[in-house]
Amino acid sequence: MATELDTLRTDALARIKGADTDRALEELRIAYLGRNGQITKRLKSIKTLPKDERPAAGASINAVRNAIEAALEEQNEALLRSARSSNLTEAIDVTLPGRQRHGGGHHPVNQTITRIESIFVAAGYRIAVGPEIEDDYHNFEALNIPANHPARAMHDTFYLTDGSLLRTHTSPVQVRVMQTMPPPIRIICPGRVYRKDLDRTHTPMFHQVEGLVIDCGISFADLKGTVLGFLNEYFEREVEVRFRPSYFPFTEPSAEVDIMGAKGWTEIMGCGMVHPNVLSECGIDTEIYSGFAFGFGADRMTMLKYGINDLRMFFENDIRFLQQLA
Ligand code: PHE
Repeated sequence: MATELDTLRTDALARIKGADTDRALEELRIAYLGRNGQITKRLKSIKTLPKDERPAAGASINAVRNAIEAALEEQNEALLRSARSSNLTEAIDVTLPGRQRHGGGHHPVNQTITRIESIFVAAGYRIAVGPEIEDDYHNFEALNIPANHPARAMHDTFYLTDGSLLRTHTSPVQVRVMQTMPPPIRIICPGRVYRKDLDRTHTPMFHQVEGLVIDCGISFADLKGTVLGFLNEYFEREVEVRFRPSYFPFTEPSAEVDIMGAKGWTEIMGCGMVHPNVLSECGIDTEIYSGFAFGFGADRMTMLKYGINDLRMFFENDIRFLQQLA
């Protein structure tokens, strides 16, 4: 039995060393150590031997099994090594083009907001932010829009179950600033706003930038000059602008601003002199101070600047679209 095992061992080790593929190696493993493998069969047959021969037989078969296992392992590593080194010689083909890395970019609407912020910061404004989940008081009530006021219909509001709401404009930030900061105030409030709307020019979430100036002797002329100066700077040209009388509950008088584009007049923002009711509600003395406010959509501004006609493209995040404006 010893010599037969020796032959098996020599034979097995030689065949394993000669295996040149993973597959050949696996076949050898099965042939020797598999369920019906030669070693396994021999181990099973131990129980047919006389009792006193069993330990010695077991020990010698196990020794061969260990040798086969070790040889399999060693050959496996040798195969891995040679696979790796042949991959390596292929990988260093210096004539191949380099791997491209795609850098990220800022979203076009964020780029617009950043630009608008820097235009106003350069003019001495500060940036104010407020919560996107607002309460009825800051979003409506304090802005001179009491419950059942018809102007509430202008804002198709998302309400939360606890009675709070997703702000429908960034005007509540004006209220928060006026109630905590003494005049003079010069701020812009950029941020996300929400309305139940969806078509080519409306999405349930969009971005507004609101401006507010409160000081002594502020008049409609200041509002007009500020808006004109901003629009020229933003569009990088002398834009033709018209102010149309309009209505907002929180401003009086109110106006809508249109600019002349390739397709005629386009409405671009709302504005007006801050309503005395709003100033008083926010603890500002209307005998001393007056102010103006304006608000516009940053998404809309981006569309006008780059000639994009579908607002929804900004939020579909098609990388090909975003890359063009990155
Ligand atoms: N808050 C208004 C809106 O969302 C815009 C606006 C802001 C109008 C400030 C006048 C003054 O439509």
